[in-house]
Amino acid sequence: MKTILWAALTANGNYAQSSPENPPKPEALQDFAMQARAAGNFIVGRRTFAGMQDSTRVAQGEQSGAGNPFAGLDIVVLSQSVKEIPGVKVVESPQAALAYLQAKGHTTALLSGGADLHNTFLAQRLVDEVIFDIAPVFEGKGLNLLLDQDHYLYKDVQLLDCKPLGSGVVQLRYSLA
Ligand SMILES: NC(=O)c1ccc[n+]([C@@H]2O[C@H](COP(=O)([O-])OP(=O)(O)OC[C@H]3O[C@@H](n4cnc5c(N)ncnc54)[C@H](OP(=O)(O)O)[C@@H]3O)[C@@H](O)[C@H]2O)c1
Repeated sequence: MKTILWAALTANGNYAQSSPENPPKPEALQDFAMQARAAGNFIVGRRTFAGMQDSTRVAQGEQSGAGNPFAGLDIVVLSQSVKEIPGVKVVESPQAALAYLQAKGHTTALLSGGADLHNTFLAQRLVDEVIFDIAPVFEGKGLNLLLDQDHYLYKDVQLLDCKPLGSGVVQLRYSLA
């Protein structure tokens, strides 16, 4: 199972946070939907999924809606506090998320965020590739993606691809293998 971490970053290197005042760039959102459809799935943290339910139609009963870019995808929500969410699979650990998707025949798992989820997978060395969509914005003190929350680590990674997505958004793709 290949695991790809997808993230929108700011131009000053933060893991971008979004809000109604500062929504994600449309080019990054379109790219995420494309990557998710290519994988056929995504794994998401409980807090980010709650935000997605507010802003998209992934809630119960709307998964098959024609305007829903996530219709038909296997969505796996990571949570220890919530046991069930209608229409998606809830699991308690990164390993359980990957095992679930593997058992369903997926060969790639897409990690969609947020910071907690990504940092959990990174810390457990469960990420094979990362896709960073870098938006032309600066943010103040914010979130970071880290290999280890407590120790300084340094690791060379291999650039696989680099391309503009439009409106100043640039995509970088790296192998962590
Ligand atoms: N830049 C981007 O591409 C992007 C994408 C998405 C979100 N975001 C940003 O990310 C932020 C939200 O991220 P977040 O870090 O607050 O939350 P999150 O990662 O979306 O969700 C965190 C929750 O996921 C569950 N979880 C995480 N690791 C787990 C583990 N190892 N085992 C079991 N459950 C686990 C826990 O749920 P329980 O508490 O239920 O146990 C935890 O509270 C927002 O600011 C949002 O704007 C950015």
